[in-house]
Amino acid sequence: MDPRATTKPGQARTKDQLRFMTCGSVDDGKSTLIGRLLYDSKVIYEDQLTELARDSAKHGASDNDIDFALLVDGLEAEREQAITIDVAYRFFSTMRRSFMVADTPGHEQYTRNMAAGASNAQLAIVLIDARKGVLVQTKRHSYICSLLGIRHVVLAVNKIDLVNYKKETFDRIVDDYVAFAAGLGFTSIVPIPISARHGDNIINRSGNTQWYQGPCLLHYLETIDIQSEAASQTFRFPVQWVNRANLDFRGYAGLVTSGSISAGDEIVVATSGQTARVKRIVTQDGDLPRAEAGDAVAITLEGEIDIGRGDLLARPTERPEVADQFAAYLIWTDHNPLVAGRNYILRIGTRTVPGSITAVKHRIDVNTREHLAAKTLRLNEIGFCNFATALPTAFDPYEVNRKTGSFIVIDRYTNRTLGAGMIAFPLRRATNIAWQPLSIGKTERAAQKNQKPCIVWFTGLSGAGKSTIANIVDQKLFAMSCHATLLDGDNVRHGLNRDLGFAEADRVENIRRVGELAKLMVDSGLIVICSFISPYRAERDMVRKLVAKEEFIEVFVDTPIEECARRDPKGLYSKVKSGKIRNFTGIDAPYETPITPEIHLKTVSHTPEQLAEAVVDVLIERAIVHGR
Ligand code: ADX
Repeated sequence: MDPRATTKPGQARTKDQLRFMTCGSVDDGKSTLIGRLLYDSKVIYEDQLTELARDSAKHGASDNDIDFALLVDGLEAEREQAITIDVAYRFFSTMRRSFMVADTPGHEQYTRNMAAGASNAQLAIVLIDARKGVLVQTKRHSYICSLLGIRHVVLAVNKIDLVNYKKETFDRIVDDYVAFAAGLGFTSIVPIPISARHGDNIINRSGNTQWYQGPCLLHYLETIDIQSEAASQTFRFPVQWVNRANLDFRGYAGLVTSGSISAGDEIVVATSGQTARVKRIVTQDGDLPRAEAGDAVAITLEGEIDIGRGDLLARPTERPEVADQFAAYLIWTDHNPLVAGRNYILRIGTRTVPGSITAVKHRIDVNTREHLAAKTLRLNEIGFCNFATALPTAFDPYEVNRKTGSFIVIDRYTNRTLGAGMIAFPLRRATNIAWQPLSIGKTERAAQKNQKPCIVWFTGLSGAGKSTIANIVDQKLFAMSCHATLLDGDNVRHGLNRDLGFAEADRVENIRRVGELAKLMVDSGLIVICSFISPYRAERDMVRKLVAKEEFIEVFVDTPIEECARRDPKGLYSKVKSGKIRNFTGIDAPYETPITPEIHLKTVSHTPEQLAEAVVDVLIERAIVHGR
């Protein structure tokens, strides 16, 4: 979400830049305000102005004024629709400061764009149309800003000219807003009456609002003290890469995300707890005695400790949280809904770790802040969820540190970003549980049984023949004095998984539990035959990863759906036809075909006996069992 996220060591720090966003809807004059700021601070070049005048004539507003909104809404499509659909970042500077403005669309269906803009902003200008006052969307925008950690708000009461510059109107809106914003945690709310169109109180105090004694907008943006806040925070340094320029040099490169560090200070690696002293702070322009928030540096240490990409360095007295479970706010940004239990990739700072959403606690109505019951989140929805990561991970609550407290959820297969999260607190429940070592291990148990334990995973459509073939394989192994067991979808759903249905999240949980169970059985030396539709690649791969590489054998029972429906061993396909069953795999629920299964069985041309024989042959070939 942060356009400045990757900074090379030695790159200049972005000193005294204010990053702000504008909230409001099209009619509130958001783009006009940004255009006005750019125009009045003289950063528009002549050629752009000419173009603007021409465009204004073509698309623009009623009179002969230049339409500043056109300067900002870059895309042709946006102009035609007269709405802004993406996050546009603008840069401008005055003598005092440089600015980065995120201009995001205001509609509810663009919540994710607004969150992206807000995640990176230090201040929000909340625009209100003086004629309309505080609206539902004002509240929504303010809530999103608050959730994303913005603590400073300028309440820009715009179009003050259209209410005849009336103080009473301004005061009433300010009172309304301040009352509403009480629970949002803003540390400053500065109300300013403005007219973006006419320039009142933008650069200079306006003669039309004699009653207003506060600052004009630009002056306020130039002087608000935000920079020192990041530097005063605790020191955090996520390691981006390990620089081994030569045998004698090992530097940990990254960006100081908050606080500061000096040569000679002690640091700790958050997850391992190892400590060391900072020897040098290296940049391309020479060593620094001290590095602070925003500096891209490489740190070298006295003595050798184990540090890799993704580690978080801190001071030993100010350590971050380390946990493998936490609760977080999550904004879902993908068209496919969230699936609880599915294995995703989480990127927290510079660390990438497999993880999953173990529970959606509730969804939040962004207009009313009400908590609603939910099992999933859809595009643009915000919820509060529990997460589990495969490894203990270092972080801070987002409220304390926006950089080390935020993360994104990534799809394992497509690499798409699916959501963005803000960590609320660690969940310590599991951290008091240690793995209990057993005296007799897998090796001993397998040796006693004279076989190699493994999972033989049958996947395919309902009625494809999985259970039939699996059952024959089981019989054959039994006859060969092997120790096998058979887990079958229908059977497991009678007991262990009787609480689960056939929605996507239920099927994911079904396979997760079965996978964990099968793994325990592998540990006890068994050959575990599993027969489950297991329609999703992600979950089959999840089970695969639970055991060693040679311990997972995927058997794709490949039967065309027409053939399954013709056989219809349980009469389910005819029930589907008459509308009695929904969410049926292959009909109105997906089946993701295995790409490289260890065994591919085509059932149309062979008998179940032949196919079972083929599976046993592979087990013999792989020395899992001994030949007959
Ligand atoms: S899985 O998708 O979660 O892997 P599983 O293999 O446990 O499914 O259970 C599938 C069995 O449940 C099918 O063989 C069938 O007998 C029964 N079943 C009932 N409803 C459905 C449905 N909607 N889709 C698929 N199978 C169903």
